[in-house]
Amino acid sequence: MDLFQVYPLFEITPVKAEGCWIMDKEGNQYLDLYGGHAVISIGHSHPHFVRGLEEQLNRIAFYSNSVRNPLQETLAQELGRASGLEDYRLFLCNSGAEANENALKLASFQTGKAKVIAFENSFHGRTSAAVAATDNPAIVAPLNAQHDVCFLPLNDSGALEKELAKGDTGAVILESIQGVGGLSMAETSFLKQADLLCRKYQAVLIADEVQSGFGRTGDFFAFQPSGIRPGIISMAKGMGNGFPIGGILIHPEFKARHGLLGTTFGGNHLACAASLAVLEVLEKEELLENAREMETHFRHRAEGLPEPVRVKGRGLMLGLEFNFEIAGLRKRLIENHRIFTGSSKNKNLLRILPPLNIDRGSLDLLFNALEKEIP
Ligand SMILES: Cc1ncc(COP(=O)(O)O)c(C=O)c1O
Repeated sequence: MDLFQVYPLFEITPVKAEGCWIMDKEGNQYLDLYGGHAVISIGHSHPHFVRGLEEQLNRIAFYSNSVRNPLQETLAQELGRASGLEDYRLFLCNSGAEANENALKLASFQTGKAKVIAFENSFHGRTSAAVAATDNPAIVAPLNAQHDVCFLPLNDSGALEKELAKGDTGAVILESIQGVGGLSMAETSFLKQADLLCRKYQAVLIADEVQSGFGRTGDFFAFQPSGIRPGIISMAKGMGNGFPIGGILIHPEFKARHGLLGTTFGGNHLACAASLAVLEVLEKEELLENAREMETHFRHRAEGLPEPVRVKGRGLMLGLEFNFEIAGLRKRLIENHRIFTGSSKNKNLLRILPPLNIDRGSLDLLFNALEKEIP
């Protein structure tokens, strides 16, 4: 049987990984400044993560959500402590799209309304409502296009109020820092307005923290410096350091009832063990602080580049915006320097999403390579 070919591939076969490094089957070493698309938070094969999963695997790997799983309760407590959102509640699933799908569904249950407001250049995943709220018609099938979604420019509170005032919107979904869209940021004043307006017009504000959450920006969640309290917060990627897990944090004003949401695999024992290990390492190794320090170093090195360049993003969710398309440069970084980086919808933007325990010396390898490769 052949694979259904939906991914353009680099001809590299990783067989082992450690920290910020990936080894391929020929024994070549690559510096991972992409983190498997912002997934690797505490570093590849972190010993605490490996031990946590191994020990759990030897006890019980999975049982359904029809019995008690104390690991879910511990994860909820630890997440509340790490994020400072102790009064929210946790529902666990398996991926970012699924987290947003559940968030949009819950918002619709809560408000009795179906319309969703999303923003230009958004990416929320590939399931039905999540992809409908994604600003990329190429990945929206006719089935998904049945959802009632309105796209507005980011940071335009006038346009947001005008749309919300129609009264038929149940959810506003936004990324505080757009990932796939190219690292545009929601301004603090806009986040505050969006929070206020959602309350005024009985819509639920959903903060999509699938990529920016779990410490990647130097805050636990990227929206937090604004002080807002979204109705729902979705998470995935860095949450399991590569083990598939996603979830939503739900504001106390929502009432749970049996059967409202559900999943077979979500919150299984192994996934909880993975995420608990991530939280423990984030705290013990002070990785949020490291993300902030590495951003400062990154910006300092970017100033020294020969070509004018704009640094976008925050913490270790960063991008370098050049005056030219970066596809060739990205390829040369892999082929000539064995450095993985990311791309985005913005063709001039090189995306940098390394493990959060990266050090200065590793970031220097990127800048030394860029100094050689920039035309
Ligand atoms: C902001 C955001 N939301 C949702 C998703 C979808 O996550 P997943 O691929 O785990 O379904 C992504 C994936 O890139 C994302 O960046």
